[in-house]
Amino acid sequence: MGTLELAGAQVPVIGQGTWRMGEDPGQRRQEVAALRQGIELGLRLIDTAEMYGEGGAEEVVGAAIAGLREQVFLVSKVYPHNASRRGVVAACERSLKRLGTERIDLYLLHWRGQYPLAETVAGFERLREQGKIGGWGVSNFDLDDLHELGVAGCATNQVLYNPHARGIEFDLLPWQQERRMPLMAYCPLGQAGQLLRQPALRQVAEAHGVTPAQVALAWALRQPGLIAIPKAVDAAHLRLNAEAAALQLHGEDLALIDSAYPAPTRKQPLAMV
Ligand SMILES: NC(=O)c1ccc[n+]([C@@H]2O[C@H](COP(=O)([O-])OP(=O)(O)OC[C@H]3O[C@@H](n4cnc5c(N)ncnc54)[C@H](OP(=O)(O)O)[C@@H]3O)[C@@H](O)[C@H]2O)c1
Repeated sequence: MGTLELAGAQVPVIGQGTWRMGEDPGQRRQEVAALRQGIELGLRLIDTAEMYGEGGAEEVVGAAIAGLREQVFLVSKVYPHNASRRGVVAACERSLKRLGTERIDLYLLHWRGQYPLAETVAGFERLREQGKIGGWGVSNFDLDDLHELGVAGCATNQVLYNPHARGIEFDLLPWQQERRMPLMAYCPLGQAGQLLRQPALRQVAEAHGVTPAQVALAWALRQPGLIAIPKAVDAAHLRLNAEAAALQLHGEDLALIDSAYPAPTRKQPLAMV
């Protein structure tokens, strides 16, 4: 599994998402097992948020990383309505408790809200000084938001990216690449919807003897400085996702995907879910 540097650590280019985990107690055992299996497969970066299951996902992650904390690079996110200077510190402390750890490796503002960015950053910096977070970053920020933020200290921007939503290739992604700010790609599988049934992806998958989901991951990872965070609870999905790190797409594969999902030729609004 390839790695890149994020907030001072080497992290794998494929991690594990956790949205929709921690919502149903009946699923908890399977979710914990899935995350542990993912860690074993090398998907050592785990992405979560206080929003997911209103803390439930962080509790699932806490159970999964018990005894394995040192192996895992942990990312969580603060709600915008908690992102005041003091609110961000209090929210982080609640997250730490649910995660059963003393430190979140990377803490993100989930999306922009009502608080001035300077306040949120002051809260993040306080947490960093206290050793409660290793670094901080943002999510769902477009280029103008990053300009306003000023990038000093910001470790990443986590945004939606897959063949169906590739508007960031026009400006945001090259801008981050030039500044060596890794981009975290969420919904890299298009939430297992229409994207995975798209004929071009299926054709490329068939040619390589892989699945459309693996093609979608390899397609995202052709970009330098990118980390994809697919969410998977199914054991077979986890194995396939880890194996996708080794898949190399060729020029003709990319051209086929381009014909179904053309690269952007002008600025597009930032896609979000
Ligand atoms: N910052 C933000 O605003 C934001 C927004 C959305 C998401 N995220 C983060 O990004 C992560 C990923 O996004 P997402 O969960 O929305 O969507 P996703 O990763 O694109 O898709 C998840 C779906 O794909 C299925 N799947 C996983 N691996 C597969 C495979 N190899 N073949 C076929 N299906 C597969 C999963 O099924 P099973 O679970 O049954 O295996 C699940 O239904 C989230 O979990 C979250 O951590 C962040």
